[in-house]
Amino acid sequence: MKAVVCDRYGPPEVLRIEDIERPVPGPDEVLIRIRATTVNRSDTETRQGSPAVARLLTGLRRPRHRVLGTELAGEVEAVGSAVTEFKPGDAVFGVRAWKFGAHAEFVCMRESAALAPKPAAMSFEEASAVCDGVILALMGLRPADVRKGRSILVYGASGSIGTAAVQLSRHFGANVTAVCGTKNLDLVRSLGAEQVIDYTREDFTANGQAYDVIFDAVGKHSFGRCRDSLNPGGIYLATDGLHNLLLAQWTRFGDKKVIFPIPPRYTQRDVLFLKGLMEAGQYRAVIDQRYPLAAAVQAHRYVDTGQKTGNVVLTVG
Ligand SMILES: NC(=O)c1ccc[n+]([C@@H]2O[C@H](COP(=O)([O-])OP(=O)(O)OC[C@H]3O[C@@H](n4cnc5c(N)ncnc54)[C@H](OP(=O)(O)O)[C@@H]3O)[C@@H](O)[C@H]2O)c1
Repeated sequence: MKAVVCDRYGPPEVLRIEDIERPVPGPDEVLIRIRATTVNRSDTETRQGSPAVARLLTGLRRPRHRVLGTELAGEVEAVGSAVTEFKPGDAVFGVRAWKFGAHAEFVCMRESAALAPKPAAMSFEEASAVCDGVILALMGLRPADVRKGRSILVYGASGSIGTAAVQLSRHFGANVTAVCGTKNLDLVRSLGAEQVIDYTREDFTANGQAYDVIFDAVGKHSFGRCRDSLNPGGIYLATDGLHNLLLAQWTRFGDKKVIFPIPPRYTQRDVLFLKGLMEAGQYRAVIDQRYPLAAAVQAHRYVDTGQKTGNVVLTVG
């Protein structure tokens, strides 16, 4: 089968298309023919080997997993002898977070992994571009108790995690303020933000407003700068920056807290929750660019700009 392989850390040009062996499902696994996948920040950061400390997990000298790619949508091609929930021909979507392998024509996943039937009304491309952002957003929104009667500001609201955080916060009933660049203001409004702030024209930390939760969904802000914009008992949610792990400990018993929910847990329960939301029309995929699998280098280059809106899809087959 065709796959995008990554044998060393470096720029997008380290990637190349290769014919590799098609995986064979174990007794509790399904073999999925991938129709669409994404290039997300986990892929590009793993390709870069960044931050360096992450190489303890991803491989010291070279990427431990040759084929990147975490999110996917496709059709079940074959199932192992013990599989009961899926059968050949089923359309599925999910996320294979720690083992990667989705930038290929086929991948195996355990039937109990973060995998679920694809909502019939969604295309494979749409279904491939939802799980990572939603699950990473949920990891923060749940402990921050985002619900009706509470206010949240999402900084970096136009990214993969940001577009998920805006939609989920609205679903949970919170009052949502979204902060993004000029070109994405209409998008984040259409996702349900009640207030929008263009960070190129206004510094939200200087406008006198305060929020119960500030979610830095793009790793570009800081607890120090946000502290005065948090209500008493407020929570700063981080998605990036190892110093936030220390701050999370430091602020544990303080009034205003930092929560940095790592490592995230990718569960089938959350993929099923997302499936329900999409079927109810309460969540939609935000796709910026689409590339064929063979153009993975270009897709990585685009994601490396740090300016993608929502998600970048690779179509397969
Ligand atoms: N915790 C985890 O396990 C985990 C896993 C994966 C990724 N991450 C981290 O999570 C963060 C977000 O990832 P993502 O994939 O959601 O990001 P992304 O989609 O790459 O974010 C791109 C968006 O960020 C916005 N942006 C860029 N610079 C900005 C700035 N200075 N201020 C405000 N917005 C800015 C841009 O929007 P505008 O055009 O509107 O400015 C762009 O639409 C990254 O730092 C990533 O490393 C964490």
